[in-house]
Amino acid sequence: MSNALKKVLVLNGPNLGRLGKRQPEIYGHTTHDELAAMCIDWGHALGFAVDVRQSNHEGDMVDWLNAAADKDIPVVLNAAAWTHYSYAIYDACAQLTAPLIEVHISEPLERPEVFRHTSVVTPHATAVVAGKGIDGYHEALQVIASKLGTP
Ligand code: DQA
Repeated sequence: MSNALKKVLVLNGPNLGRLGKRQPEIYGHTTHDELAAMCIDWGHALGFAVDVRQSNHEGDMVDWLNAAADKDIPVVLNAAAWTHYSYAIYDACAQLTAPLIEVHISEPLERPEVFRHTSVVTPHATAVVAGKGIDGYHEALQVIASKLGTP
């Protein structure tokens, strides 16, 4: 058996590149670069090679999800605003074969904007982690480890 770490994708959607500057009262002070470094460390401790990506362009996200489907790669997905309306993201998530964990830093269901109360990701998600800040990404990676039975 190979000793190579199993690949896991952490995919972040629009405006999450501005973490740390963007509404810190909601999303906190951690930057996206800091989040990426933490995810890599958390993943490594769980036996994963974590690849963290962020895009403001929906086609990038569809391409990344399609590649994850082709290669059976587990995904931690914060689709940000696309969560609430993108049927392209819905269709791409439907094709995934490995665990898909939906993450939100805030808890969209408790926010006042009604549009945040719908998710196109949830129907395809193995689990949803929301409202736990940046630590939610750690929990999502732990869920993947427990689903895959990695140490
Ligand atoms: C978010 C919640 C979404 O409603 C919002 O559009 C985001 C971030 C979160 O992480 O809390 O951009 O996904």
